Amino acid sequence: MSPKPTAEGVTEGIDLAGQRFLITGASSGLGLELARVLALRGASLVLPVRSLDKGRRVLDSAGLDEEARGRCELVVCDLSRLEAVRALVDSLVQQGRSFQGLALNAGVFGLPFELTPEGLEFTFASNFAGHFVLLHGLLRHRLLVPTGRVLATLSEAVRLNPFLRPDVRLLTEPRAHAKRFGAASSPTAKVLLSLSLLHLARAVRGTWAEPMEFFGVDPGATLTDNINQGGRVAQALMRVLGPRLLKPVGQGAAVLAWALTTPSLPGERGLRYFTNELAPVSIPRRWLDADLAEQVWRASEAHLATGPLRL
Ligand SMILES: NC(=O)c1ccc[n+]([C@@H]2O[C@H](COP(=O)([O-])OP(=O)(O)OC[C@H]3O[C@@H](n4cnc5c(N)ncnc54)[C@H](OP(=O)(O)O)[C@@H]3O)[C@@H](O)[C@H]2O)c1
Repeated sequence: MSPKPTAEGVTEGIDLAGQRFLITGASSGLGLELARVLALRGASLVLPVRSLDKGRRVLDSAGLDEEARGRCELVVCDLSRLEAVRALVDSLVQQGRSFQGLALNAGVFGLPFELTPEGLEFTFASNFAGHFVLLHGLLRHRLLVPTGRVLATLSEAVRLNPFLRPDVRLLTEPRAHAKRFGAASSPTAKVLLSLSLLHLARAVRGTWAEPMEFFGVDPGATLTDNINQGGRVAQALMRVLGPRLLKPVGQGAAVLAWALTTPSLPGERGLRYFTNELAPVSIPRRWLDADLAEQVWRASEAHLATGPLRL
């Protein structure tokens, strides 16, 4: 049996010197491993994190040499606060930063219902709304290079849960959604992210951003701090079973590192979806519905006050 791919393995021999990537959720788990490996391969990184202290601590102990660690720039940004995301975009514009790759990776799940000061549901804001505003801002200001790659860490649920619905009401009526589901569902937010990327993959045609590539990736069940979320019983079970059942983070992050860096990716242009098999996989047809994707994009622009994107 051939060894399972790891983030280090799939990037071996790839020189990322002179390339810059923005990775969300790099203070833990898959995002941290992705950041570590891209820095190891020579990339410069901008890493928005909720806590600078935690970000510094985990990066300092990631085993990078001083030079690679020096190319990892931490910036404070809670993605659930749209004001903070807009401020991040503004500061990147001022610094004239541009990026070869963007990993929309941060995510929470299984948390109780909570409204942010801006009136969004917290899980939805962290997993979708903040990422939408970030992506929108980077494109509006052309901070992604035309050949850039945009990746969203989605999940098995997007591919395999037949009950998932693209609940656009998360944008407008977070309380109504919570009434039905108890809390905002992380997979629902990820479906909205996936549909947004699908829309963009079509919208870039005939524009400066036409060569840009868009991916959803599914790392598969991976041992990260993720197991400390969800209900108490689930947490207790995962603490015992997780190390036996879940893959190590190096394996989980393989597909993220591969999709962002491998010179030529298989599959047709448009939104491509990859798992750790490192090959395109299909997603349900309803998540490939261009009209639905446009509806989600327009509703998000309206309710997250981004204004229309002119590419
Ligand atoms: N692990 C799995 O089995 C698995 C499977 C499929 C998909 N995924 C997805 O993979 C992604 C990474 O998860 P993980 O497993 O690596 O979990 P993790 O170790 O808990 O990492 C989650 C990361 O997201 C950050 N984050 C959460 N909310 C944020 C916010 N409002 N603003 C800024 N950053 C925020 C966290 O920051 P803090 O350090 O501040 O908490 C942390 O860095 C998630 O989107 C998750 O849904 C994971």
